Parts: sequence; C-alpha cells; structure tokens
Amino acid sequence: MKDFLWGGASASYQCEGAWQEDDRVESMWDHYLHENNLENGDVASDHYHRFEEDIRMMKEGGQNAYRLSLAWPRIIKNREGEINQKGISFYRRVFETCRKYDIEPFVTVYHWDLPQYLEEKGGWLNEETAYAYEHYAKVCFEAFHDLVKEWVTFNEPKWFVCSGYLIGNYPPCHKSPQDTITAAFNVMYASALGVKAFREGKYPGKIGIVHSFTPINGVDGTLATKIAMRYADNYCNNWILDTAAKGEIPIDLLTTLSKKYDLSMITEKHLKVIKENKVDFLGLNYYSRALVKPYSSGETTLVVNNSGKKGKGTSKVIIKDWFEQVYDPNSTYTEWDTEIYPKGLQEGLKEVWEKYHLPIYITENGVGMYEDVTVDQVQDDYRIEFMNDHINAMLNAKDDGVDIRGYFAWSPFDLYSWKNGCEKRYGLVAIDFDHGLVRKPKKSYFWYKEMIESNAETIKRKRL
Ligand code: NOJ
Repeated sequence: MKDFLWGGASASYQCEGAWQEDDRVESMWDHYLHENNLENGDVASDHYHRFEEDIRMMKEGGQNAYRLSLAWPRIIKNREGEINQKGISFYRRVFETCRKYDIEPFVTVYHWDLPQYLEEKGGWLNEETAYAYEHYAKVCFEAFHDLVKEWVTFNEPKWFVCSGYLIGNYPPCHKSPQDTITAAFNVMYASALGVKAFREGKYPGKIGIVHSFTPINGVDGTLATKIAMRYADNYCNNWILDTAAKGEIPIDLLTTLSKKYDLSMITEKHLKVIKENKVDFLGLNYYSRALVKPYSSGETTLVVNNSGKKGKGTSKVIIKDWFEQVYDPNSTYTEWDTEIYPKGLQEGLKEVWEKYHLPIYITENGVGMYEDVTVDQVQDDYRIEFMNDHINAMLNAKDDGVDIRGYFAWSPFDLYSWKNGCEKRYGLVAIDFDHGLVRKPKKSYFWYKEMIESNAETIKRKRL
C-alpha cells in the first residue's frame, strides 16, 4: 500500500485550548458554551502548547499523516478580514513540526468554530459568511501552501448544519427547516468558493470536502422502502456529495423542498460557481449506517443521545413524509446509541466510488467510550476490534477496486467531544484531563503502529 496515508484526525476547537491566547477571538462555540455554563474546550487537550509532543507520538506510533483543522478565530481578527500573524505563525510551527517528523498534514479549513463576530451578523444564514469564508480560505492557502498539499474546505456540513439549525443541540440552536436549508446552501456555496480560490491561486496539491457519511439500508425491498431510502440518502448524503463532487444539487430534493420552502436564495450565479468548482477527492467520516423504513406518522423528530446512557429509543430520526430510522435488534450499539456496523463501510465505499469515481480518504473512524485513564495503560481491546473490523471493511472495498488513499483514526489522542464533553474518549493516547494532561498511549496505539508497520498484514481479514 505504497503512499497510503495512515494517520489520526483532530479539530482545532476540540484539542487546542488556549482560547484567549495570541489574540484569538471568540468563536460561536466559546460564546454558546460559556453563556450556558456547559463543559467547554477552554483547555481541551492543550494541543496549542503540546502539539510537538502529540505529533512526535504520532510518528512514534507509526503514523505518516495528521488531519487537523485551522481555527478561523485565530487567523482572521474581525469582519474587515484583518489577518492575525500570530495565528499564522502558530500553524506554520505546527506544519513545520509535521514536516520534521515526516507527517503529511491534511488540513481542514473549517471544522465548526465560526468567529462569533460573524455569528452576530447571521452566521451561515447570511450569504456574506460565504464570502468571508472565501477570504479566510485564500489567506490560509497563501500562508501555508509551501507546507500543506492536502486541503479540505469543510468538515461535515450535514452534521453541523442539522445540529445547529434543525435539531438545535449545537449553536446557534435553531429548530427551523427553512434555516437548515438556507444554511446548508450557504455552506455548500462557500465550499465551492473555497475550491474556486484554490484553483485561481494555482496552489499545489488537492482540495476535497469531508462528509459525515451515513450509508442507507432499507428494512425490506418494497417500493415504499426504496422511496424512503432515496429520501434518507438525500437528507444524509446527496446534498453534500452530489453538490461537491458533481457540482449539482439533487434535482428531486430541490423539487420536494420547493413545494414547502423558500429557495429563492439559489440563483444562476450560485449554481454556476457550484458547477464550475468541484472537489478533487472525497473524505468520508464513517461511524455508522442508517437503517430506514417508510414514514408512518408523527412530526419530524430528531433526538441525539448526548447522555452516554444506552437505551434503545433515546436516539430518534423521523423526517415527516420522508422516512424513519429504525434500530436493528440484532446489532450492537455503543453507550451513545451508535450502531457498530463495519459492513456499512464496505458497501458504502463501493456505492460512493460507483457514483463519483473520485479518490476517497476515510477521514475519520473510531469509537467513543468511557475509560479510566488513571491506569498505566488503557486496555482498549474493544477499540482494537472496532478498528480491525473497519479497516478490514475498507480493505475489502479496496480489493474490489475502490480508489482509497488513506485512513485516519479519530482520534490520535483524547480530546473534547462537543456536547459529549471530555469523558467520551476516542483517543489512541489517553489524556488525563484532571491530572496535568499527562499523555499515555493506550493498547490500541501499539496495535495501530504494528498494523501500519506490517502494511496491514496483521488485520484479521474476512468478507462481510
Ligand atoms: C465527527 C466530527 O468531525 C468530530 O468533530 C467529532 O468529534 C467526531 N466525529 C466524533 O463524533
């Protein structure tokens, strides 16, 4: 597997801490979490001060790539677009450290930490935010193009748009289908503007988008279920992947939405930018699939289990008139009600390849658990099993001809997990947040190292 990237993925707000350092301005997440007195990322993993140690540990753990994101509030000071040189020099130090350790930086421009000064002007509901993003992206390409060759415009549009504007559990906490549509469109338009800026600047390397990939399965083969599956695929995947990869918003989705909602913000001008600025690759974050059945009754209901207390039924997705998501009684679920289903990755990769024929990276994959990190070494055999089974699924798809170029474990070290706080741990390296943020590799860290060094020969293989 020559040139294959094996790495770990993180995000600025989830690991950096140092929220007021070097003139960083407030993000919408700082604002929301402080206002509501919720667990926040003020310190997080303190990566801002310890990035060298974290990158060195990745190298020592056999990894050759690090997926991370830039914090817009560290780089652009205000609505006028003024650049913060201290933020630029921080990230240059990070990338130089990556290069020193022979780690390929894989850089996400936006991973949810919108500057609060933009949120106050409407955030993603305001088209101006898309132009502010274009300026910010240009600044990043210009400042780092000598050190970074792999770029990502956005991390998981579906997740932050639906959580922020439909479910209401992320800032700005709206519960409005109309706002969801407007924000979704502005984000996809901004992503295309980012690609445009990248092409116009003739920067070296490639640019893609990262999507929270949810392959769709149906409960049976009836026509009604097939229709429900198409609705679910449009809701979960197609509005991001079709728009970014084909330059087209799914027409049946637009037709359905136009019957109830205002789509007047979508004009010829926007569609042209989207059409002309497609991505070079797709990043897929895979945690689980969605098993769906036809819509039966009730209002749209979207409940996410942020409690970490298992209980079937605590997570719920019903989109009125479209589809309902159901549990599989024969499957395994985590404490946060996420189904563990590696086969979804194997099948989903093939579907995405057949639809778009673009190179694919697994940009996130991992399992969140409660763990006691005061021990000498966390014995996370469940994580090893999880990673083995998902890497096996990925290799099966690769054997079947899918062009897969890399795999990133979420996450290389423990970090802050948004509404799930610091106790939902995904790391290969444990961080004791209560005792000096000491780093200790878990069993999975050594397993991953051995697996990479064996060129994936140690993966227990099976067809799914
Ligand atoms: C998706 C997101 O990109 C990341 O921010 C999040 O913490 C992980 N997946 C785990 O849920």
